Amino acid sequence: MTAQRFIADHVLPLGSSGIRRVFELAATLDDPIDLSIGQPDFPVPENIKETMCGAIRGDRNSYTPSRGLPALRERIAADLKAEFDWEPDLFVTCGVSGGLLLALMACINPGDEVLIGDPYFVSYKQLVRLVGGVPVLVDLYEDFQARPDRFEAAITDKTKIILLCSPGNPTGVVQSAQSIQAVAELAQRRDLLLISDEIYTKLSYDGPSSSPVRFAPERTLLLRGFGKSHALTGLRLGYAAGPEEIIAQMAKLQQYTFVCAPHPGQVGALEAMDTDVSHQVDRYRAKRDLICAELKGAFDFVRPSGGFYLFPKVPKQYASGNAFVDAAIERNLLIIPGDAFSERDTHFRISYAAPDDRLRQGCEILRDLAAG
Ligand SMILES: Cc1ncc(COP(=O)(O)O)c(C=O)c1O
Repeated sequence: MTAQRFIADHVLPLGSSGIRRVFELAATLDDPIDLSIGQPDFPVPENIKETMCGAIRGDRNSYTPSRGLPALRERIAADLKAEFDWEPDLFVTCGVSGGLLLALMACINPGDEVLIGDPYFVSYKQLVRLVGGVPVLVDLYEDFQARPDRFEAAITDKTKIILLCSPGNPTGVVQSAQSIQAVAELAQRRDLLLISDEIYTKLSYDGPSSSPVRFAPERTLLLRGFGKSHALTGLRLGYAAGPEEIIAQMAKLQQYTFVCAPHPGQVGALEAMDTDVSHQVDRYRAKRDLICAELKGAFDFVRPSGGFYLFPKVPKQYASGNAFVDAAIERNLLIIPGDAFSERDTHFRISYAAPDDRLRQGCEILRDLAAG
């Protein structure tokens, strides 16, 4: 018997992530230099671990309210009030992915269009399709700043949402306050919802990264998470904040899907909010500086200001991002081809969330490949 006929039609067209191909190749290598991973290389801070262990031992393993622990929600609300003088409705999500899925489920009717800057985080296009929407990609090359004229040119009478991500994955580019303001004004003028994925906001190296909350608070749905800033990726914790009507529908959908974010993790998230990670931010800033210095002159790239990624162009002698990545993998170096995040196959992503000696070794191979 084949179970193929049980698979729903809308699932098959979703391609598997281009990152997977690299991970599969990686499994064949012995101790590769791995600059492909999109998560911090430091452990969860000890105090957060202790707090979570205490929560588990103290039998805080039950469901929480679907919207999250009241103390955590209050703390998030206080931080948003302090940061933006903003008092949105909010709830705790299972990572930013959980918030994103529920936001799209709550807002998208079949055929509704969502504008997404290209290059984009791998899930965006697929999640929009999964809920019956149409992803419309708006080119961000060459400097990866969101240009309002390009977004405006992509608007149709089906457009409902602009999905922004800053600092960006895979580029590490932080949108300038002017870009964000211009896109926020466009959303106002054309009556669109802004979804702002700010999972990397704490990892900003050249001053704070801006948010559409500053310019269009009443039409911004903010998604943030604890995974990247506090290395809690596997604990699946984030939050969604925004218009009451949308949050109410998302929270309703959470009851029937995720139910709630993991209870001990929520206790840990509250501790995380009081845990200073500025030394890790300093560490990543230094890694950003290191990798930019190592690759300067050998590659074209936009100097990133956030996250832990660099997105250089492949050298001219390679036919595509994939051809370049294959050559790198032959030298035992793992990086991700740009077409995992883009309609173009002209770039590649490096994650610099790795030890400095590995970064130096990786850069040496990259320089060699560029010179070869
Ligand atoms: C831009 C962006 N958004 C969302 C996510 C997913 O985050 P989470 O693990 O909190 O679901 C990631 C993870 O890599 C990301 O890079």
